Amino acid sequence: MQTLENKSILLIISGGIAAYKSLELIRLIRKSGGNVRCILTKGGEQFVTPLSVSALSEQHVYTDLWSLKDETEMGHIRLSREADLIVIAPASANLLAQMANGLAQDLASTTLLAADKPILIAPAMNHQMWDNPATQKNLKTLETRGIKQVGPTKGDMACGEHGMGRMAEPEDIMNAINSFFFERPLSGYSALISSGPTVEPLDPGRFIGNRSSGKQGRAIAAALSSAGANVTLVTGPVALTDPAGVNTIHVETATQMLAACESAIETDPKLDIAICAAAVSDWRAKDAQDQKIKKRDGETAPTISFTENPDILRAIANHKHRPTLVVGFAAETENLLDNAKAKLSRKGCDWVLANDVSAAQDNQKVFGADENHVYLINENGVDDWGKSSKTAIAIKLAEHIAQHLQQDEQKHAAE
Ligand code: CTP
Repeated sequence: MQTLENKSILLIISGGIAAYKSLELIRLIRKSGGNVRCILTKGGEQFVTPLSVSALSEQHVYTDLWSLKDETEMGHIRLSREADLIVIAPASANLLAQMANGLAQDLASTTLLAADKPILIAPAMNHQMWDNPATQKNLKTLETRGIKQVGPTKGDMACGEHGMGRMAEPEDIMNAINSFFFERPLSGYSALISSGPTVEPLDPGRFIGNRSSGKQGRAIAAALSSAGANVTLVTGPVALTDPAGVNTIHVETATQMLAACESAIETDPKLDIAICAAAVSDWRAKDAQDQKIKKRDGETAPTISFTENPDILRAIANHKHRPTLVVGFAAETENLLDNAKAKLSRKGCDWVLANDVSAAQDNQKVFGADENHVYLINENGVDDWGKSSKTAIAIKLAEHIAQHLQQDEQKHAAE
């Protein structure tokens, strides 16, 4: 597992409500073994306090360019010299404009102008500010200078509006940080991932669904993207933000999910990887009603007839443009390994990740949880990956896939 040990990050927190998420980012960097020193702008201080930043980073927090004490002890030039990477999260429209125009008006902008280290920005702002040609021009300028960007994503904003400009989630910023320090073994590869539940309508207001949270599929999409892959994520309805840098397509039913997956394969017939992590509803109502099904006095309860949904994993594994590596999941409540092995051959995929979703498992809830116990099953047998976080499983899967595809290429080259 990669760690950030011996790596130093200078984190600049500028003004924006998303600054609260930077506290979590500090925690994640520290948890990963990295050292993090922070600059908090005047705007940033309106949203998080120097005390919280200092407590989490376990370091002094720098706020003032004209502080005699800070300049004597550290100095704004040394702040960037002693870092391996500078991360700006949130990066406000104002700070981006200062950077693009070479302004040095406070400690953050002065440090950035004097910086000699790679810079990663995580922009966060109102969607109109994001769309403004001035901001877009500044971003282009920064891009041509080699400054890397993570996010923003689309979604509900703190101001009550909806659109592009939400800061990337701390986990996604962490992935982008890792991409700076570690090799990107999936660069040049493309992947399709299905995730979340499907919901099948009974009438305009009612549906049949399942408890899938979509967390595992999202984590896999983020891990593959951070390993350099070009990722398309097809997801059923979930309460999660879209992962930064991933082409995310939202669907509701199994039929829509299949159509979106097939269209992704048609668009890129040389797809390398497909991972079906979605909990697809096996059946849908045969005759979904256009009008609400009414309850009438004296009438018996309605009978719902079902018809089978398409099997998306099987369709991908048997597609004429079959991706090189097709991975499925097996969610089982009994006979985990036997059922999962049977699924591997029945569906025609290369690997199956099996997990026990019985309520009895460790007496814990499985759906929506942050941890999972999985086994990798393929032609070589069964490998117990133990219990770990969905993020750790996703990273391990990305590493295994990279290894497998590289070995596969070497084998073909030798033939
Ligand atoms: N799957 C799929 N389309 C379906 C059903 C399942 O793509 N209509 C995929 C899932 O994404 C998963 C794998 O098939 O990768 C196994 O799903 P699971 O729900 O465990 O199995 P089922 O095929 O539904 O079989 P069963 O209900 O008998 O366990």
